[in-house]
Amino acid sequence: MKITKIFNKNSDLVYYNGDCLDLLTQIPDDYFKLIVTSPPYNIGKEYEKRERLEIYLDFQKQVIQESVRTLKNNGSICWQIGNYVENGEIKPLDILLYPFFADLGLKLRNRIVWYFGHGLHASKRFSGRYEVILWFTKSNKYTFNLDPVRVPQKYPNKRHFKGPKKGELSGNPLGKNPSDIWEIPNVKSNHIEKTIHPAQFPVELIERLVLSMTNEGDWTFDPFAGVGTTQIASIIHNRKSVGAELEKKYYDAAIVRFKKVKNSTLQIRPMERPVYDPLKNNHIPPKTIQYETPTQMALRIKHEKEKYESRV
Ligand SMILES: C[S@@+](CC[C@H](N)C(=O)[O-])C[C@H]1O[C@@H](n2cnc3c(N)ncnc32)[C@H](O)[C@@H]1O
Repeated sequence: MKITKIFNKNSDLVYYNGDCLDLLTQIPDDYFKLIVTSPPYNIGKEYEKRERLEIYLDFQKQVIQESVRTLKNNGSICWQIGNYVENGEIKPLDILLYPFFADLGLKLRNRIVWYFGHGLHASKRFSGRYEVILWFTKSNKYTFNLDPVRVPQKYPNKRHFKGPKKGELSGNPLGKNPSDIWEIPNVKSNHIEKTIHPAQFPVELIERLVLSMTNEGDWTFDPFAGVGTTQIASIIHNRKSVGAELEKKYYDAAIVRFKKVKNSTLQIRPMERPVYDPLKNNHIPPKTIQYETPTQMALRIKHEKEKYESRV
């Protein structure tokens, strides 16, 4: 896996320590298949300085415009956001940012609700337990692979009870469409993926986007990349990725994670693990990434094919 600090088409992973708008000037038009990010929300987290809302929105608009320039015509852009809060009043950022995408001609495919069970307990309103992913495409021709992200059917053995298909399974045996409400645990202190970052993505959230919206060899991009979760979800599925992160300490933490991927020592929460239910014994242990370079993967497949053919 070739990792570089500045944009290079021959890299597998570009991780830039600086402002995303500077990095974007190095990127050609129509380059990325998927852009996915969670920007700062302007709520005073340790990595942001609170600005007037108009100044914050103006910067977001610039990053969105430049990102859309670098998006392929058959590509997708996913902006993951929560609420801006001022004097106890919430302003949903997806509502404020939607016009910037719509004005550029992008088409909203889903407004995905990411639901999680843990967070701050509010005292003057109901505790917030979801955030949103706005998924836009640049055109009507876009990649959407449903099979790799199907989830188990609730009643997998349910069959048609009348008509010409009587007795046949009524649901898809590969599983069902995961819908637009995703219950995925957020990364709190006891999560296997926790780093020093206070707002990192769970890898499985981004794996679902990468697997459904890109194909192997495609490029992904995260302009506010933090500790590199978008890059991890991309490289473990043989995609290439570019990220920008302003803060050196998160940048360094990301590099440590990439090295762990390379050495096959990074542990992640498996996509197939159900949300913890104290009444069920359904524990699936953490998964250790087994990283293969494309050459190693091609050799393994060739070897398995030869072994199979020598048996038949
Ligand atoms: C919500 S966090 C993203 C975390 C990321 N999703 C992860 O999994 O680690 C937003 C990140 O954007 C970074 N950031 C803020 N302004 C930036 C800019 N202009 N260019 C690049 N990164 C920036 C912050 O330092 C912070 O780490």
